[in-house]
Amino acid sequence: MNSDSSGGGYTKARSMQHRDALLLLGQHLAWRDGDAVLDVGCGTGEIARHIADRKEVATVVGLDISKDMVNFATSKNTAEKASYHVLDIQDESGIREDWRGKFTKAVSFHTVHWIPNKERFLANVHMCLEKGGELLFNLFAGVPAIKVARDIKHHPKWREYLTDYALQLYEWPKGDVAGMSHLLEECGFEVVTCEVHTLTFKLDSLEKEKAFSRPLLGHLQYIPEEKQDDFLEDAISMARELYQKDEEGRVAWEMPQIVVHARKL
Ligand SMILES: C[S@@+](CC[C@H](N)C(=O)[O-])C[C@H]1O[C@@H](n2cnc3c(N)ncnc32)[C@H](O)[C@@H]1O
Repeated sequence: MNSDSSGGGYTKARSMQHRDALLLLGQHLAWRDGDAVLDVGCGTGEIARHIADRKEVATVVGLDISKDMVNFATSKNTAEKASYHVLDIQDESGIREDWRGKFTKAVSFHTVHWIPNKERFLANVHMCLEKGGELLFNLFAGVPAIKVARDIKHHPKWREYLTDYALQLYEWPKGDVAGMSHLLEECGFEVVTCEVHTLTFKLDSLEKEKAFSRPLLGHLQYIPEEKQDDFLEDAISMARELYQKDEEGRVAWEMPQIVVHARKL
C-alpha cells in the first residue's frame, strides 16, 4: 500500500492483513495487567482498538506517518484507552518524552517494509520500550508480486503515466533470518523468535484479486480513473506468471514474510 492512501480506501482491502495480525498477536504475545502498547503504522486503527479492548491493557498509542490514516483511526476506531498520532517512526525528535521507556509492548504489522531505515525503526521503538518490553512485527521478504510492482513502471502501455512514480517499498531479503537477527541484536534486542512465515491467499475471482492488489499498487494514483481497471488486470496477469497454479488455474498468492518477536535487553 502507498502510505498516503486515504483510510477509507485502505479499510476496504484490509481484512486479510487484519486476520494475519490477529493471528500473530495470539501466537506470540500474552497480555499482562497494565500493559502499555505502541502500535507503529497503526493505519486505520482496527488493530489498536482490538488491543485496547483487552481488559489487561491500560493504554494503546497508535502512530502513523499518514495524517489521513490517523484522522480515520481517530474518528472510526475511537477507544477510551487508545490515542493516535502522526509520526514518522524514523524521526527520533518526534518521540515524546512521556513515551520514552514507557511501553511494555510494541507491535507493527505490515508496515516495516514501507520504512527504508530499519535500524532507525528499531532504535526508536527500543527507546519507547521499557527494559524487557516486547516487540512483535512482520515485514515482506521476497514477495514475487512485488517484482510486478517494479516492472510495470516500464510497461509500454503504462510507462507514460508512471514517469514520476517511485516504488517506495523496502522488503527484507528473502529468507534472511540471520541478517534480521543480527540487526535486532545490534539494536539492543534479544531475539525470542525470528522466522520466515509464508502467507498464501487463494482468491476465487478477478474482483477479489483486484481488491487484494490495489493496496500494493500505489501506481494507481498516477493512472487515470477510467484506465485503472485495465491497469489492475495487466498487473494481475503479469503476477500470475510468477506463481504456481492449481488444477483450476487458481493462483496461490504467496507472500513470504519475516516475523520477529524480540525483547529489549
Ligand atoms: C499496510 S498499512 C498497515 C496498517 C496496520 N498496521 C494493519 O496491519 O492493518 C502500513 C501503514 O504504515 C504506515 N507507515 C509507513 N511508513 C511509516 C513510517 N515511517 N512511520 C510510521 N508509519 C508508517 C502507513 O501510513 C500505513 O498506514
